[in-house]
Amino acid sequence: MCGIVGYIGNQEAAPILIKGLKSLEYRGYDSAGVSIYNDKINSVKTKGRLSNLEKKLDTVSLNGCIGIGHTRWATHGEPSDVNSHPHMNSTSTISLVHNGIIENYMVLKEELEANGHNFLSETDTEVAVQLVDYYYKQSNNLLDAVYKAIERIEGSYAFGVLCNDEPDKLIAARKDSPLIIGIGEGENFIASDIPAILEHTRDIYLLEDKEVAVVTTEDITIMDMNKNIINKEVFNVTWDICAAQKEGYDHYMLKEIYEQPKVIKDTLTPRLPLDVNNITLDNITLTKEVLRNINKIYIVACGTASYTGLVGKFLIEKIARIPVVADVASEFRYKEPILDEKTLMIVVSQSGETADTLAALRLAKKAGAHVISIVNVVGSTISREADDVLYTLAGPEIAVASTKAYSAQLCAMYLLSIKIGMELEKISQEEFIELRKELYLLPEKVEKVLEQSDAIKKLANKYINSKNVFYIGRGLDFAVSMEGALKLKEIAYLHAEPYAAGELKHGPIALIEDNSLLVGLTAYEQLYEKTVSNIKEVKARGANVLAIALEGNTEIDKIANDVIYVPRTHWMFTSILENIPQQLFAYYISVGLGHDVDKPRNLAKSVTVE
Ligand code: M6R
Repeated sequence: MCGIVGYIGNQEAAPILIKGLKSLEYRGYDSAGVSIYNDKINSVKTKGRLSNLEKKLDTVSLNGCIGIGHTRWATHGEPSDVNSHPHMNSTSTISLVHNGIIENYMVLKEELEANGHNFLSETDTEVAVQLVDYYYKQSNNLLDAVYKAIERIEGSYAFGVLCNDEPDKLIAARKDSPLIIGIGEGENFIASDIPAILEHTRDIYLLEDKEVAVVTTEDITIMDMNKNIINKEVFNVTWDICAAQKEGYDHYMLKEIYEQPKVIKDTLTPRLPLDVNNITLDNITLTKEVLRNINKIYIVACGTASYTGLVGKFLIEKIARIPVVADVASEFRYKEPILDEKTLMIVVSQSGETADTLAALRLAKKAGAHVISIVNVVGSTISREADDVLYTLAGPEIAVASTKAYSAQLCAMYLLSIKIGMELEKISQEEFIELRKELYLLPEKVEKVLEQSDAIKKLANKYINSKNVFYIGRGLDFAVSMEGALKLKEIAYLHAEPYAAGELKHGPIALIEDNSLLVGLTAYEQLYEKTVSNIKEVKARGANVLAIALEGNTEIDKIANDVIYVPRTHWMFTSILENIPQQLFAYYISVGLGHDVDKPRNLAKSVTVE
């Protein structure tokens, strides 16, 4: 949520901040603003997209070589000019941008009001800047004032702070919200995420929780809460800036859908060497001995990543016969989960920053459980705090709706499940060789599904006016149906619900009427006939049926209005192929309805608040 960029150097700050914010707009896009120092701090901020801010900046010249910028996803107070960041103290001498939530802001606000501070906005963030102001008046030292303020603040924050009276520095601080420092030559940067500064530098420091940085043109000093200096390793970014650009596609989402054959190959093949009959899971030790000590597995994640968890649960339980609980992270820690040294937790996250997933990980670690993370963003908090990390090699995912990251997560889950199965001798060498062969064929099978893009576009236009859409499936298909329904909801704003196919007649079938659409997933062949019967029940009640089926299962043609066929593969891997048509279907409906595909309303890519 919310994107932060800061610049200090010898170039004009405004264009650097705006360009950086553009690449962070996926984090939030309901308002934006910048503060730039030039003799004094000047700020421009506005409700709406970054383009509104750009228009406003065309009319005001904001010069200066030091500044901070922000793109917002509102938590406290509606999106409005006054609630936009940066927030200032009453004399406009201190400016602050914030990502996170200040949980005790009401108490702090009352205290500050009692001390004569007036508040303009409804935000929690304004409390932070007023608090810094309060302490600054006592010490005339910005760093001290920021330290004093963060000692009082409960909740999560990434802050960037700029002060009129100390214009040679930016102060950055983080707790439970991501923040990085970009190392330049004669210039330095702060940002919420790498793409914002990648054009300027590949060398960065990853701030950890409760670290504070003083950033000047020539220096970066990072300290702990006791002001002890921390010598950090420089993190070098290896991926390319064009990986975070649209490259001729109409939308990031479409580009990312088309990247999937490569992403799948990149995630699978380094872990599946052809000269060894085993899986190499980076540095993860999942031996027989380790696994025999485990009596329970939790897979915890949010949103799309949680549906990867459902696939993982299905595969691990079926193959390895170990009980697996797949849960959404927002609920997990409030259930008093039973965690101990015999628990293995797998957390799944594209961003590696999702607040609820991180909290689940920390809870598990505290209880002595071993935590493996499946993460896409290298160096993210979850990847650093987990005992082990299996990176999905999907590259930066910019569209808010996850596509390629989900496919890469499925690949990682296939690898983990097979590895566990092999170590527990549930999968033989011969079976492994067969599975490996199939995994190597997945990228070209995905290509084949993508070739049907035009046909899927036509289907999207045919069903664009559907009122209620039901996604149904059994077994693995049920897990995949959840992802299909979520995609349609989040980018097409159509009411879509996933159901276990057999559950429909226990209630939801009452909703079926003419113009309802049923998307029937049938690739999990063990339960194919049963799913087909459930599809017939719905068809008989007036719904249109769009089926997704494995090549060769042509009898579904007689029941469904339309069928999308996907290539045959091993039963374990059908989820990945079956999901591609769901992605394209949602994408083309969203485009047809004229929605902002990459930045759907009310959403943000990285959910770093609870
Ligand atoms: O970064 P994460 O994978 O932890 O994010 C989890 C969810 O917020 C994310 O998958 C969300 O559901 C996406 N909008 C799905 O398209």
